Amino acid sequence: MSYLVIGAGPAGLAAIRSLKEAGLPVEAAERNADVGGQWLYGASSSAVYASTHLISSKSTTAFADFPMPEEWPAYPSRVQIEQYFKDFAKRFELYPLIRFNDGVAKLSRHDSHWRATFDKGETRDYEGVVIANGHLSDPLLPKVRGDFAGKVMHAKDYKSPELFEGKRVLIAGMGNTGCDIVVDAIHRAKSVLWSVRGGNHFVPKFVAGKPADIRNHNTKLVLPRWLRSMLHEPVARLLAGPPERFGLPKPEHRLYDRTPIVNSLVLLHLGQGDVAVRRPVKSFDGNAVIFEDGKRDDVDVVVFATGYKITFPFLEELSPLNWQPQHGAPRLYMNVFPPEDNGLFVAGLLEGAGVGWPGRALQTDLIAAYLKARKAKPSAAAEFRREIEPYCAAPASKDRGEHGIFVDFLQYKRDLKRAIQRLR
Ligand SMILES: Cc1cc2nc3c(=O)[nH]c(=O)nc-3n(C[C@H](O)[C@H](O)[C@H](O)COP(=O)(O)OP(=O)(O)OC[C@H]3O[C@@H](n4cnc5c(N)ncnc54)[C@H](O)[C@@H]3O)c2cc1C
Ligand SMILES: NC(=O)c1ccc[n+]([C@@H]2O[C@H](COP(=O)([O-])OP(=O)(O)OC[C@H]3O[C@@H](n4cnc5c(N)ncnc54)[C@H](OP(=O)(O)O)[C@@H]3O)[C@@H](O)[C@H]2O)c1
Repeated sequence: MSYLVIGAGPAGLAAIRSLKEAGLPVEAAERNADVGGQWLYGASSSAVYASTHLISSKSTTAFADFPMPEEWPAYPSRVQIEQYFKDFAKRFELYPLIRFNDGVAKLSRHDSHWRATFDKGETRDYEGVVIANGHLSDPLLPKVRGDFAGKVMHAKDYKSPELFEGKRVLIAGMGNTGCDIVVDAIHRAKSVLWSVRGGNHFVPKFVAGKPADIRNHNTKLVLPRWLRSMLHEPVARLLAGPPERFGLPKPEHRLYDRTPIVNSLVLLHLGQGDVAVRRPVKSFDGNAVIFEDGKRDDVDVVVFATGYKITFPFLEELSPLNWQPQHGAPRLYMNVFPPEDNGLFVAGLLEGAGVGWPGRALQTDLIAAYLKARKAKPSAAAEFRREIEPYCAAPASKDRGEHGIFVDFLQYKRDLKRAIQRLR
C-alpha cells in the first residue's frame, strides 16, 4: 500500500520527494491544476498577490540542493517562485506521482490504514498520509458590528491594486500581507488608512546592499534565541527605525519571538504622511468605519489582512492530530508527529522566519527516515516514538506563539537534522 501526500505546495513537493527517494511507494493529490501551492498565482488556495516578492532571500529560502538561478534577484517575485516549483517538480520527476484537479474531500480511518475520498468520487486506501495542505488559505475575519455600504474583503481575495483607484481605502492588519497591501494601495488610492492592533519589529531587506537575513544563517554556533534577540533587536531598531516613531504600537515581544515585518517601504510612506494609522475596527455604519478609540472615517474599500485559520476540512474528527482548541492548531512533536502512532504526519505547519523550504524538506526527510527506521532500525524508531507522547501531552510554551507552532529556525533545523541522523 502507498503513502498519500495531500497538497503539492512546497511542503507537499518536499514530502513526495523525500518518500520517493527513501524508496517508499508514494502518490499525491493536489486540488489545483499545478504544483506550487501558495505560489500558483490565481489558484483558489493561493493568497499571493501580483506584487508579492519573497521576504526571505533566495539563498536562505530555496531547497538546499536546488538553488534559484544566479541571475535572479535576491528576493525573487512570485512569478519566478511559481516557475521555481514547476522546475523543481520536473527536475525530481514528481509530476507523474501527483493527481491534479482532484483534492482529498474526506480522510477516514479503516482498521490500520487511511481511506481517502477524492473530490471526483474515487476512494483509495493508504498505509499512511502526509498532510501538507497549507495554513494560509482559510481567511480569519474579525467580528465587526453593523453593515458596510462599500466593498469589504479579506486579503486572501486581493490580487492587484486596480480596485483602489481613486478610492478611500482602509487596510486592517499589520502582518507582512497588510504592509504589502498598504504599499500597493498608496499609489492608487485617494486616501489610505491602516488599522493596526499589536506591534511588531521591522527589519530591512538589505543591509549594506546584501540581503539582511544571510548572516543569521551563516552560523555554526546557535546562540539562545533570547540572546540573539538582545543583540539584534537594537540593530533592527536602528536600521529600520523604532516602529513607535512612525505612530505604530511598540512591540511587546522580542525580535525572534515572531515573524518580523520585512518591509521598509511602508515605514517610508508613514513618514511621508501617505497613510494614517488607526486602532482596530469596532463597527460599520454605512460608509463610516468606527474604530475602538471612537474615531470615525468614511471609506469606500476595506481589506482585512487579519490572518488565517488552521483547518483540516477533510478530517471529520481532529483528535487524531491532537487538536488544541485553545490554540486553534494541533500539538505535534516537532510540528510533524501526533502522539498516536496512527500513520498521519503533518508537513509545513509552522511559523518562523528563516525556516524556508530547506526546513520543510528536513521535516519530510524526517518522516521518511522514521518510516524506514520502523523496519530497518526498530529500536531507534521506538526510542524516537517514546519522546512523542510526553511532548504532545504537555502544554505549548509561551514562546511557541498564539497557535503553538512558532519555531526558532536555527534551533528547529538543528533538531530536525539530529533526529534524522538518529533514525538513519
Ligand atoms: C503573500 C505570501 C508571501 C509569502 N512569502 C514567503 C517568503 O518570503 N518566504 C517563506 O518562506 N514563506 C513565505 N510565505 C509562506 C508560504 O506559505 C510558504 O512559502 C509555502 O507556500 C508553504 O507551503 P505549504 O506547502 O505548506 O502550503 P501551501 O503553499 O499553501 O500549499 C498547500 C497545497 O495543498 C493543497 N491542498 C489543500 N487542501 C487540499 C486537499 N484537501 N486536497 C488536495 N490538495 C489540497 C493546496 O491546493 C495547495 O496547493 C508567503 C505566503 C504568502 C501568502
Ligand atoms: N512578501 C512576503 O513574502 C509575505 C507577504 C505576506 C505574508 N507573508 C507571510 O504569510 C504569513 C501570513 O501573513 P499575514 O500578514 O497574512 O497574516 P498574519 O501574520 O497572521 O498577520 C495578521 C495581522 O492582522 C492583525 N489583526 C488581526 N485582527 C485584527 C484586527 N481586528 N484589527 C487589526 N489588526 C488585526 C494581527 O495583529 P496582532 O499582532 O495583534 O495579532 C496581525 O498583525 C506570514 O508568515 C507572513 O510572513 C509573506
